[in-house]
Amino acid sequence: MLALLAAAGALALAPLGGCEPTEERGRPVILFGGDNQGVLAACGCPSNPSGGLAKRTALIGAYRRTRPDAIVVDAGDVFPDHPHPVKVKYVAMALARARYDAIGLGDQEFALGVDRLRELQAEHQLPFICANVRDSSGNLVFRPRVVREVAGPKGSNLRGRAGIFAVVADRAYGWPALEWRTGLAVEPPAEAARREVQALADCDLLVALAHMPLYEALELAAAVPGIDVIVVGHEEVMLPQGRRAGGALIVSTGESGRTLGSISLGLRPGGKPDLALRMTELSAQVPDEKWVMDLYWQYVKESKDKPPPDWNLTPIPPAYETAEACGKCHPDEYKQWTRTHHARAYESVRKARRQDDPECLLCHTMGHGRPGGFASMAQAPALGRVTCQGCHIVTADHDDKGVKPEPQININSRVCMSCHGPVQSPDFDYFVYKPRILHKRPAGQ
Ligand code: HEC
Ligand code: HEC
Ligand code: HEC
Ligand code: HEC
Repeated sequence: MLALLAAAGALALAPLGGCEPTEERGRPVILFGGDNQGVLAACGCPSNPSGGLAKRTALIGAYRRTRPDAIVVDAGDVFPDHPHPVKVKYVAMALARARYDAIGLGDQEFALGVDRLRELQAEHQLPFICANVRDSSGNLVFRPRVVREVAGPKGSNLRGRAGIFAVVADRAYGWPALEWRTGLAVEPPAEAARREVQALADCDLLVALAHMPLYEALELAAAVPGIDVIVVGHEEVMLPQGRRAGGALIVSTGESGRTLGSISLGLRPGGKPDLALRMTELSAQVPDEKWVMDLYWQYVKESKDKPPPDWNLTPIPPAYETAEACGKCHPDEYKQWTRTHHARAYESVRKARRQDDPECLLCHTMGHGRPGGFASMAQAPALGRVTCQGCHIVTADHDDKGVKPEPQININSRVCMSCHGPVQSPDFDYFVYKPRILHKRPAGQ
């Protein structure tokens, strides 16, 4: 136990593997993120060890040690798109303790409902902002902006006010589509942004948190002069150098919170801000902040065996059956399948000691949280893997019922991508991966 504790202590003190702040000391700094998707701890998938609030917070902490006034903002989708109610609470706790200055609300936040968001804001003092969403009486549902003083070292002229506002685009997203707007009025972002630029006219630096596609952010920059920095959320594209449009620097951290952006400011009152951008990958070298990991394990404990009912991303077969049941009539396919990684999917999660995290079981087992699906290794060991039904949505009596599965037509890259998403399988390429799982070698090979 003691040895373990010592190891954990050493980890917390370990250098950040080349990811530590390198910006000129004394220059004020804005740290930004977006699209964190409720990731507390990076998943153990070796292809993607990066991201998550635990690493993000460790890096923010490293900045704060030399720059206590670092401004920390997020452009939205801090919560996951299929939120586990227990997880929402823990993400809110982590965000509160990480002391963000502003969180621009995205559609995934609004999908929780304004009432729930207000509850979270009140309970955890979260700095939610949004300048263009109103209720039925025409009032903004959250405050539109925050203003922060930034200062360089004593005696320097690096001192000024940073104004931060947020807007969200009124458009259909993949999920939760447009439902999030029910009962709300979403003003065109450019109109709200113009008003905010006026309201913040006495600031030395203007930052917009823009939850919208990149092209709309570029249009916003062109349509609304006076914004210095636009942090784009929801776009899931990482811009290593940023983009310039209409006098603004457009920045975006890309999918699932895997990078933290920083902008160090040469800020002269009355003068033009001079901005230096850096994007740091929250790679395996960045240690996990211990208190965030503690929250993660508490979440796991509380959510164990409690997957929310609407969580299964993969198509649902009429009933869950084992690969062995299919193998009775398809012995060759069965034999080949047992040699694939799909047949051992639970093992990887267990080896990573994350078998109690309901999120991992989503793709590493069949039908977790569904009637008849995987609940535990004791109850349904044969479903602790990606069975035939992961790709073929039929039951074993399909022949009796005259149902003829049509693999050529039914199986396409979308079937795979319900599990092989950009976070867990960033290298996924259908034409490279498919040959590795084919039951038969194509003729002539
Ligand atoms: C009782 C025997 C039996 C069982 C059990 C069975 N199948 Fe089949 N399956 C067949 C037969 C027979 C065919 C051929 C039907 C045809 O071509 O008309 C077939 C065809 C298929 C095909 C399409 C093959 C092609 O060439 O188009 C797929 C895919 C398939 N089965 C998947 C499954 C899966 C998945 C399971 C388990 C959930 C399963 N089968 C269980 C008998 C069975
Ligand atoms: C959205 C689906 C999905 C979720 C959720 C998911 N995984 Fe994975 N995981 C995958 C896929 C797909 C792969 C294969 C990636 C590849 O090789 O391209 C994978 C691979 C892995 C591997 C590597 C297996 C090997 O080949 O050695 C580990 C370990 C792993 N996942 C652990 C986890 C853990 C722990 C969690 C929960 C924090 C998790 N996964 C959540 C889909 C998922
Ligand atoms: C990872 C996805 C995946 C899994 C899991 C999977 N299959 Fe398939 N299966 C395919 C694909 C893809 C094809 C079509 C091959 C093609 O397009 O050339 C196929 C084709 C088939 C066929 C048609 C004949 C053939 O061999 O091509 C049968 C039968 C079949 N699968 C049965 C099974 C059985 C039984 C299992 C479980 C033991 C299983 N499959 C698991 C993807 C999968
Ligand atoms: C139900 C979720 C799910 C579906 C659907 C799925 N996979 Fe996977 N796949 C996984 C998981 C989880 C792993 C990692 C297994 C492990 O733990 O080793 C994986 C691993 C793999 C691997 C091994 C990666 C490697 O390291 O070589 C290949 C190849 C693969 N999948 C191809 C496919 C293809 C092609 C499809 C679609 C026809 C598909 N998968 C559909 C979940 C899925």
